[in-house]
Amino acid sequence: MKFKALTAIAALMVAAPALTFADPDDDTLVIEGQEMVTKTDLPAHMEDANMDMIMSGWHFRSDETQALQMDDFDNPGMIFVDQALDNWESVEGSAGKSCASCHEGPESLAGVRATYPKWNEDAGEVRTIAMQVNSCRTENMGAEPYKYDSTQMAAMEALITLQSRGMPVDVAIDGPAAETWEKGQEIYYTRYGQLELSCASCHEENYGNMIRADHLSQGQINGFPTYRLKNAKLNTVHGRFKGCVRDTRAETFSPGSPEFVALELYVASRGNGLSVEGPSVRN
Ligand code: HEC
Ligand code: HEC
Repeated sequence: MKFKALTAIAALMVAAPALTFADPDDDTLVIEGQEMVTKTDLPAHMEDANMDMIMSGWHFRSDETQALQMDDFDNPGMIFVDQALDNWESVEGSAGKSCASCHEGPESLAGVRATYPKWNEDAGEVRTIAMQVNSCRTENMGAEPYKYDSTQMAAMEALITLQSRGMPVDVAIDGPAAETWEKGQEIYYTRYGQLELSCASCHEENYGNMIRADHLSQGQINGFPTYRLKNAKLNTVHGRFKGCVRDTRAETFSPGSPEFVALELYVASRGNGLSVEGPSVRN
């Protein structure tokens, strides 16, 4: 089993051996004068993982891509934040309300991105930000939900995320969230697809290696939503998970599915201690 995965990984790696490993760089990420924590100690629950530190995906990108994230004028993700601000104030749905009718401005949602996905007592479930936004839309506004990984949803997530920029990711994994977290952990280590690769095969055992033209990171989500130069839009966490699972040539779970919600909680917890960086810029 393990053998087969190694062969699959080897097949995906670029041929020139001298180029196959590149250290993540040691640059410092300062956004608009605020220094981000982009490398830090492993959270306690990761003691057994074969890693020394947790690191933001920012360290694995080229200097040019990195620079785009250091200045809000250069960061194309910020355009979507502006769009979301318009949506924040638009009245929609049968209750005749906007987000602004109930929430005192996006700043009142500071801390949300750092602590979500999070257990919601009334609903009896772990909720992602997207689930909470849609619950407000359907139940509080009488409006249609946004499609889970739509640009509108990604934009609203970016607006909410920005309010937590620089705060340490701090998702709870115990208490009522524990069961969902364990399910996410199991998915993370399960080998899927014809290639029999798990998330860990690439993002824990091979980060730092080059895979095709890409420098493999730890697959952290502290920078989401992410503007990708590749598709010139903001990408959601579940959109990224979907692409990664598909790369193993497996059937993928859908955005918003209980599996991806559990996986998001688990992956978020692997970044506990890194700064919330979104909206980030990646290739
Ligand atoms: C009719 C009032 C109402 C409207 C309109 C509304 N919300 Fe909410 N929202 C609430 C209430 C009530 C809560 C739960 C309060 C709490 O526990 O923080 C909440 C919670 C939230 C939370 C989670 C906050 C936290 O601290 O966990 C987010 C995020 C959120 N709303 C986003 C939005 C967005 C985005 C919109 C517009 C698309 C919106 N809401 C529209 C009433 C509303
Ligand atoms: C075949 C190898 C491979 C597998 C398996 C894989 N990924 Fe990825 N993933 C990549 C590559 C390549 C990238 C783009 C470069 C990077 O950021 O690592 C990426 C990017 C990511 C990112 C974006 C990181 C950032 O900072 O923007 C996340 C999050 C992610 N993967 C999560 C996952 C999860 C969760 C799984 C398991 C469901 C998974 N990946 C499985 C190869 C893989």
